[in-house]
Amino acid sequence: MLKTCISAAALAGRLVAASDLAWTPPSLVPKAAGYPVASNISGIVPCDALREAGLGDRLLFATDAGYEPHLETWYAVNARLRPDCLVLPHNAEEVATALTTLVKANNGGGDWHIAVRSGGHSFPGSNNIANGVTIDLSMMNSSSYDPETKLAKIQPGGRWRNVYSDLHDAGVVVTGGRDGDVGVGGFLLGGGNSFFSGRMGFGCDSVKNFEVVLANGTIINANSTANSDLWRALKGGSSNYGIVTRYDMEALPTRDLYYDLRALSLNYSDAVIEAVIGYTNQDQSFADNALVTYWTHDASSSPETLVNTIYVNVEGNGNATSAFDKVRRLPALFKSSTVQNMAEAANGSQLEGGTRNAGTTLTFRNNPQILRQVVDLHEDFVKRLSDRMDPKKFTTMVFFQPIPSYMAAIAEEQGGNMLGLESLGGNAVMFTGGVTVDSDDRDFGVAKAELAVFTAQVKELSKSLNGDLDFVYLNYAEANQDPLATYGAKNIQHMRDVAAKYDPTQVFQKRIPGGFKISRVA
Ligand SMILES: Cc1cc2nc3c(=O)[nH]c(=O)nc-3n(C[C@H](O)[C@H](O)[C@H](O)COP(=O)(O)OP(=O)(O)OC[C@H]3O[C@@H](n4cnc5c(N)ncnc54)[C@H](O)[C@@H]3O)c2cc1C
Ligand SMILES: *[C@@H]1O[C@H](CO)[C@@H](O)[C@H](O)[C@H]1NC(C)=O
Ligand SMILES: *[C@@H]1O[C@H](CO)[C@@H](O)[C@H](O)[C@H]1NC(C)=O
Ligand SMILES: *[C@@H]1O[C@H](CO)[C@@H](O)[C@H](O)[C@H]1NC(C)=O
Ligand SMILES: *[C@@H]1O[C@H](CO)[C@@H](O)[C@H](O)[C@H]1NC(C)=O
Ligand SMILES: *[C@@H]1O[C@H](CO)[C@@H](O)[C@H](O)[C@H]1NC(C)=O
Ligand SMILES: *[C@@H]1O[C@H](CO)[C@@H](O)[C@H](O)[C@H]1NC(C)=O
Ligand SMILES: *[C@@H]1O[C@H](CO)[C@@H](O)[C@H](O)[C@H]1NC(C)=O
Repeated sequence: MLKTCISAAALAGRLVAASDLAWTPPSLVPKAAGYPVASNISGIVPCDALREAGLGDRLLFATDAGYEPHLETWYAVNARLRPDCLVLPHNAEEVATALTTLVKANNGGGDWHIAVRSGGHSFPGSNNIANGVTIDLSMMNSSSYDPETKLAKIQPGGRWRNVYSDLHDAGVVVTGGRDGDVGVGGFLLGGGNSFFSGRMGFGCDSVKNFEVVLANGTIINANSTANSDLWRALKGGSSNYGIVTRYDMEALPTRDLYYDLRALSLNYSDAVIEAVIGYTNQDQSFADNALVTYWTHDASSSPETLVNTIYVNVEGNGNATSAFDKVRRLPALFKSSTVQNMAEAANGSQLEGGTRNAGTTLTFRNNPQILRQVVDLHEDFVKRLSDRMDPKKFTTMVFFQPIPSYMAAIAEEQGGNMLGLESLGGNAVMFTGGVTVDSDDRDFGVAKAELAVFTAQVKELSKSLNGDLDFVYLNYAEANQDPLATYGAKNIQHMRDVAAKYDPTQVFQKRIPGGFKISRVA
């Protein structure tokens, strides 16, 4: 009898808490009258364990006013999963406490798991979890420059706009993201394609030291002299070994960039493709110039399909010669050229998110025939989608980005990374296909299915023209792709060995299942 009453009272207590959520943090939920019920129990074993471990005021529950607004800091709507609770640590020690507490909680029983999140820009389920707890690094978002070591010390939860702005004040810049809203943590673990990549390689190649929390809570450094196997594995090898709590990056003196944005009519596609091909074939003496090109379809803009170019000279030289010159002479539907530092550029370039998103990637040889036919396949993709949903409810995009062969040499000079770029065996072009949907899950399901078809067609096309390459770049990959499997036998073995050595109980393979995991590579 008494037992039943206590349960009912406890339940009533929780209902009060839920209805009063706008101003009552869970730790202040009033005790159920007359019964000895602990008022601060959430009833969710891992979340209560975190509270008992002293992280009570780092927790965020669905009953907290801040929960829904915080979910909106995930880029894509479909990635805004609702965990049982989030824990937002403030430093590496708290990350260690959170991780070890969660690993021990209830001995792992039940069917709940753990996610790790930095900027939240990757695909759904990689950085968040519905059944379980998300370790969210958003509060660890500061950056500073140490003039003694000449390294920029960057925490994982920062967004590139904040990183550049903090570092600009110290007179330096790093090989970071181009969109200011993208997070540090995932970007640098997956590679990191930057305007500075022509000189510096992928962002991960600039990391001289990682501070890492291992599954057992030990905090270590990984660099060229200490734990160097882990250092190499973390450069492109993603979330398989530990939680990175600081990235120490080679810093460059800050400078102004020449930044040129254009939109052109689709009938200039061939000229833009020629520029991409030319760029990819340029030697490194042109590497201060960066080119990103993308085709977009949006039924609410006119014309509906456009070719867009972002041309940057990282030395601020607006008169440099490059394979882009011909495009600059074409009439543009829109154009802007400015000279600005990276903090300003990243702040001014932030895709909004807030839609259902999917994106896939492939790599092929630098063959203009392939690129031209991909542009045609994109038009077919748009037609199929328009047949099956309101054309105003989706947008599509196709990116081409040069991967010149010297990127492999830079990686090697910097101590090596996991991407296996040498296997490209020459200059290559990276393709990214994307779709955003602004309606509902049904439309999004259709869009994802059609994107998969489009991607398979691009793969077949590049095979038929002898231009197919295995490489799938992790940062642009969709969950149904397997980037780590394309990084070469030697790197796969290295990642397996490092995961086994630093995470012998397979916490990062089994308890933190989101993202690309080396144990799932065949
Ligand atoms: C609008 C937009 C623009 C983009 N631009 C670029 C670009 O210019 N160049 C480029 O290379 N990529 C770009 N990307 C891709 C981007 O690099 C990836 O989405 C990357 O994962 C984002 O980092 P994040 O911190 O936001 O990742 P999150 O989604 O938070 O994390 C990604 C993965 O890494 C894991 N992880 C995150 N932080 C840590 C950590 N500290 N320790 C261990 N594991 C961790 C997560 O568990 C997850 O599996 C872009 C993406 C978008 C949506
Ligand atoms: C609840 O709060 C009390 C008093 O602050 C504390 O002793 C107890 O450990 C807390 N319980 C949980 C589950 O956090
Ligand atoms: C950065 O972290 C601090 C706490 O360290 C927090 O107050 C602030 O809101 C964070 N900034 C962003 C943009 O998330
Ligand atoms: C490498 O790690 C060791 C051990 O923690 C540390 O003493 C050293 O300073 C680190 N090197 C760099 C470049 O951070
Ligand atoms: C390209 O298209 C634009 C607008 O659609 C048109 O004005 C222009 O004449 C076309 N140019 C060529 C070379 O076909
Ligand atoms: C290009 O050169 C002209 C003439 O020397 C100069 O006036 C101009 O400032 C230069 N533009 C840029 C962006 O460097
Ligand atoms: C960032 O962009 C916003 C909006 O355009 C602008 O108001 C703000 O001044 C910019 N901040 C910086 C640091 O450039
Ligand atoms: C933590 O794990 C690492 C890697 O397996 C190991 O070297 C270290 O001894 C462990 N530390 C403790 C305290 O168990």
